[in-house]
Amino acid sequence: MPILVTGGAGFIGSAFVHAWCTQSPEPIVTLDLLTYAGNLDNLATLPAAAPHRFVRGDVRDPGTVRHLLDEVQPRAVVHFAAETHVDRSIKGADAFVSTNVGGTACLLQACTDHLSDRSPAERRRFRFVHVSTDEVFGSLGPDEPAFHRASHYRPNSPYAASKAAADHLVRAWHVTHGLPTITTHCSNNYGPRQFPEKLIPLCIARATAGETIPIYGDGCQVRDWLHVDDHCTALRAVLDRGVPGSTYLVGGHGECANIDLVRSLCGALDEARPTGAPHASLIRFVTDRPGHDRRYAIDASSTRDELGWVPRHSLTDGLRETVRWYLANEVWLERIRSGAYASWVREQYGP
Ligand code: NAD
Ligand code: TYD
Repeated sequence: MPILVTGGAGFIGSAFVHAWCTQSPEPIVTLDLLTYAGNLDNLATLPAAAPHRFVRGDVRDPGTVRHLLDEVQPRAVVHFAAETHVDRSIKGADAFVSTNVGGTACLLQACTDHLSDRSPAERRRFRFVHVSTDEVFGSLGPDEPAFHRASHYRPNSPYAASKAAADHLVRAWHVTHGLPTITTHCSNNYGPRQFPEKLIPLCIARATAGETIPIYGDGCQVRDWLHVDDHCTALRAVLDRGVPGSTYLVGGHGECANIDLVRSLCGALDEARPTGAPHASLIRFVTDRPGHDRRYAIDASSTRDELGWVPRHSLTDGLRETVRWYLANEVWLERIRSGAYASWVREQYGP
């Protein structure tokens, strides 16, 4: 039976579609609005015979969603579609509330309506996997234990607050309507096809163009980096063996301060594409992000114990491989950089 993914033309969603098509004969359908972050180039390298179909549409539109569910009859929905960039949510939160909260509510209701005329066995088998973030838990002090399943919600950015609101809706639809939902909380992902507004591809794109690399504040904020392919194997395990009503944390054992991460990236760029000066000479400390969370870290032991999932990529190798991907795919990057994204970069970082 098919599965339906929302946001499958984005960074993580497209990695999930790629992994699915190489590992499973089951059909997969992508519903994606193709916002500035959605990119059909991300799906262009799927094998011609891949059992994949792309549908352009909005998760906030009940008619579209309901029609697609009735047509595809998926056994699961994996919900990636969202507005995802913290800095954009600070400049304006409307799209975040509309898509992340309203879009999730619309999908939940459409799935509930769709399942109401299915057999009890089909209803039991159905899964709604909601891809959330560790950012809903707020910021950790340097010695605090990593986020775990029972961590309290303390979102600090408008983005994190909108994802937290969506998480609560997902929980409510499970408890009230019996929808078999599962929520995952992952840390910062990295890897191929990430939109170059996020730290790692932004650094690679700017450094290779000889532009400065902006580090917010003192650069000592810590993120727990997770390779996107490890995230996708975790989602597959959640889909196959996760318990409805549960939450699963997914992290990469990759805690690293931003400045150290960027220096490693610069080292990898020096190796792969040496220039006259080290790429690290392009680093500039710039005004900090308002409300900038200091540290995220994930304790994924319950996901390991219950689902048998562990991350496979080390941060050092993963970063090197990621740098090589962006260098080998400059056309992908250029097509983004020459479009509407360029005006956001000018607004955020100056001409
Ligand atoms: P992304 O910004 O790269 O892609 C988002 C995708 O959603 C795009 O293809 C976009 O076109 C689509 N979309 C946006 N609004 C839509 C709408 N109204 N209807 C249909 N499609 C719409 O995001 P990503 O980094 O791939 O993140 C995917 C999910 O994972 C998000 O829910 C995000 O909150 C979560 N997450 C991401 C990270 C990370 O490090 N990237 C970390 C934790 C959680
Ligand atoms: P980002 O990739 O935007 O992810 P998130 O805010 O969801 O963690 O940022 C990762 C870290 O890098 C975060 O601490 C903010 C920092 N950062 C910079 O220092 N400079 C930048 O230009 C960007 C985009 C992020």
